[in-house]
Amino acid sequence: VKKNLIVFLISSISLLNWSQVSAQQKLQWQEVHHGIWKATAGQPEKVTLLKTAEIKANETGLSTLPKTTFPLPEGKIDVKILDHKIYLRFPLDKEEQLFGLGLNFQTVNQRGRIMTLHVDHYGGKDNGRTHAPVPFYISSNGYGVLIDAARYITVYAGTGVRKDSENPPVLYDRNTDKKWDAQPYSDAVEILVPAEGAEIYVFAGPTPMNVVQRYNLMNGGGYLPPKWGLGFTQRVPTLYNQDDILKEVADFENHDFPLDFIGVEPGWQSMAYPCTFEWDKTRFPKPEEFINELVDKGISTNLWLNPYVSPKGILYPELENLSGSHTVWNGIVPDITLPQVRQIYKDHFFKNHLDIGVGGYKIDEVDGFDNWLWPDVATFPSGTSAEQMRQIYGLSLQSMTAGWFKEKNQRTYGLVRASNAGASSFPYVIYNDYYSHRDFITALVNSSFIGVLWTPEVRASNDAEEWVRRMQSVCFSPMAMLNAWADGTKPWSFPEVEKAVREVANLRMQLLPYTYTSFAQYHFQGIPPFRSMNLVEGFAFKPTSVEGKLDGTANPYAMSIKQDIKDQYMMGDYLLVAPMFAGQESRKVYLPAGKWYDFYTGVLAGENQIIEITPGLDKIPLFVKDGGIIPLVPVHRHAPEAGQQLQLEVRHYGTAEGSFDLYDDDGKTFNFEKGEYSFTNLSVRKDKKGILKGNMAKITPGKPFNYNNQVVWKFMTK
Ligand code: GAL
Repeated sequence: VKKNLIVFLISSISLLNWSQVSAQQKLQWQEVHHGIWKATAGQPEKVTLLKTAEIKANETGLSTLPKTTFPLPEGKIDVKILDHKIYLRFPLDKEEQLFGLGLNFQTVNQRGRIMTLHVDHYGGKDNGRTHAPVPFYISSNGYGVLIDAARYITVYAGTGVRKDSENPPVLYDRNTDKKWDAQPYSDAVEILVPAEGAEIYVFAGPTPMNVVQRYNLMNGGGYLPPKWGLGFTQRVPTLYNQDDILKEVADFENHDFPLDFIGVEPGWQSMAYPCTFEWDKTRFPKPEEFINELVDKGISTNLWLNPYVSPKGILYPELENLSGSHTVWNGIVPDITLPQVRQIYKDHFFKNHLDIGVGGYKIDEVDGFDNWLWPDVATFPSGTSAEQMRQIYGLSLQSMTAGWFKEKNQRTYGLVRASNAGASSFPYVIYNDYYSHRDFITALVNSSFIGVLWTPEVRASNDAEEWVRRMQSVCFSPMAMLNAWADGTKPWSFPEVEKAVREVANLRMQLLPYTYTSFAQYHFQGIPPFRSMNLVEGFAFKPTSVEGKLDGTANPYAMSIKQDIKDQYMMGDYLLVAPMFAGQESRKVYLPAGKWYDFYTGVLAGENQIIEITPGLDKIPLFVKDGGIIPLVPVHRHAPEAGQQLQLEVRHYGTAEGSFDLYDDDGKTFNFEKGEYSFTNLSVRKDKKGILKGNMAKITPGKPFNYNNQVVWKFMTK
C-alpha cells in the first residue's frame, strides 16, 4: 500500500509538471505577407483589433520592400498559457531602443517602461492609457511586434529581470557603489495578454522605417486625404447657427485667410450629450441649402458627434434593445459590433447628412476618462465584453463611417478621439483636450510609429506669442485646425501677429503639392507623412541617460532621465520642422547626417550636429536636406478644383542632385485606387559644367495632372 501510494504521488507530481509543460506552447511562425510573420497563441477571440478594422493588405506596396528572413532568434521567443492568459517574451539587446506602444505624449523611447495599453483620454503620464494604445512596438534593431487582441495588454518593455536570464544584470551595492542602478538591465520585452488567445505578428525591417511601412501596408496603406483636407479648418462655437457660420465664412474671406472646411460643434443637433444626430430646427432650419451654400463657396462641412443616443432621438426606439447595459451622459451605447446597429446608423446618416452634402465627422468622447464611458462591468447584447468594446469603439466607428464615404466614392477627412491597431487607412486624425503645446509635438512624433495621424489643434492662447507658435506648428501637421468651440477665437484674434499667422497658413497652402505627395507615399509605400527623427536615415542620435538626482520624495531611487529628440520631426522626405514654443527665444535642432539648409534663405545650416537657432517670432524654423526638392503652388484660399491648372514653383536646396516624384489625382474621389493618378518626376542634375539644371519628366498622358508645364525652377542655395 505504501509503495502504491508513493507511485501514485510520483505520477501525480509528474502529471502536474506535464500539464504545466503543455501550457508552454511553441509558436508556429508563418509568413502571411512579404516580411510579416504571424503566430497564434491559445484560442484567439472573436473580437480583435484587426478583425474590427477589417482591412485588406496592400500586397503590391509590400512586395517592393526588401526581402528578409524572420528577424528574431525564434528560439528566444517564449509563450505560456496560464490562468487563462497569454504570457509572452521577446528578446532584447543591450543597446536596443523601443518605439511605439501607443500614442505617447512625453517620451519617444519606451524601453524601461511598463505600459497597460488601455483606450483613454491622455492623463499626463505615458503609462499606456491613451487615445491610440496600439499594441505594436518597433525596435531600433529593425523589427516590430504587434499583438492583436482587444484587451488591456500589459507590456514590460525591458523591465522584468528573470532569475534564469542568460544576460543577468551586474550586482551592485546601493550603499557604496556609484554604479548601482534603480533599473537593473533587463534582456526581454514581456507581455501579458489577458485573453485565452491572441494573434502575434512580427515585422521585418531591415530599417525601423521598413518595419513601419510593413505595418501600414498590412493595414491597407496610409490614408490619402482629399486635397481640401490639407487646407485650413475652423471649428465654430458650439451654439453657432447657420447664419453665424455663413458670417464666419465671410469673415475668413474678408481677412483673406484660407479656409477649406468648417467644423460644426454639438449645437447642430437638437440635443447633445446625449445625441440625436438630428438637425436642430431653430439653429439650422435648412441644412441642405446651408451645406450647399458652403459647397458653392468651396467649403466642406464636418459634423461633431458623440455616439451616445438620446432618449429624445428618433433612433432611440430601434437602438434601445441593441445597446449596452449602461448609459453615457444618459445616452444608450449602441452595440457597434451588431450588423443591425450599423445598418440603422447608416440609413439615418446617409439620409440626413451624407446625401445632403456633409463632408465628414468628428467622433468625440470614444476614449474615456473612465467616468465618461461605460464601466468595465457593463454588458452588451452581442456578448462582447465592456473591455473589448472600450478597445474597439473608436476604431469601429472609424471603419463604419469610412465605408460610407467610400461607397459614395467621396474622400472624407475627419477627427476621432480613440483609435487602435489597424487604423492606418482610416480617414481620421486624433486630437484631445490636453492642450500642452510641447507634448502635442511629441504626440505628433509618436503618431508616426503606429499608423495614426495627430493634430496639435489650436484653441485659446495666453498671448500673441503662444498664439503664433501654436498656429505655426498646427500648419505643419496632418490637420491645420483652429478649434474655437469654447472660446470663439479666430486666426486674427491677436492682431499683432495676424500677418505672421496668415503667412504660415498660406505657406501650408503653397506646400500642397509637397504635402499631398507625402500623403501619397503614406498610401502607396506606408511611409508616414510626419515622421519621428528616429525613422530618418542618417539620424545617429544616441540617447544618453542623464543621472537622476536623489530626492527623498520626488526621486527616491535617483532614477536616471532618458534623453529623446521629441520636439522636431520630418514632414515628407526633405523638410525638417523644429517648432518654437512660447517663452523660447532660441532652441537646439538636431541635424542628421548630410548637409541641411534653411528653408527660407537656402543658406547652409549644418551637418550631423546640434545647432542653436534664434529664429524670431514670425517664422517656424524649417530645414531642407541637401538635394531637397520642394514643389509649391501660388497662395490660394481653397483647395484647387479638379482640372484646375496650377503654376508650379520647384525649389532646390543645397549642392547635391535631387529627385522628387510629384503625385497627383482628382483630389477628391477614390478613382486613384483604379489607377487614375500620376507620378511625375522632378529632378535636378548637374550638366557637363557642373551647373544644376531642373527637369520635369513628360506628363503621363490621360492621367490627372493639375499643373501647367511651365515650371519655375528656383535654386535656393547660391
Ligand atoms: C470636447 C472636445 C472638443 C469639443 C467639445 C464640444 O470633448 O474635445 O473638441 O468638441 O467636446 O462639446
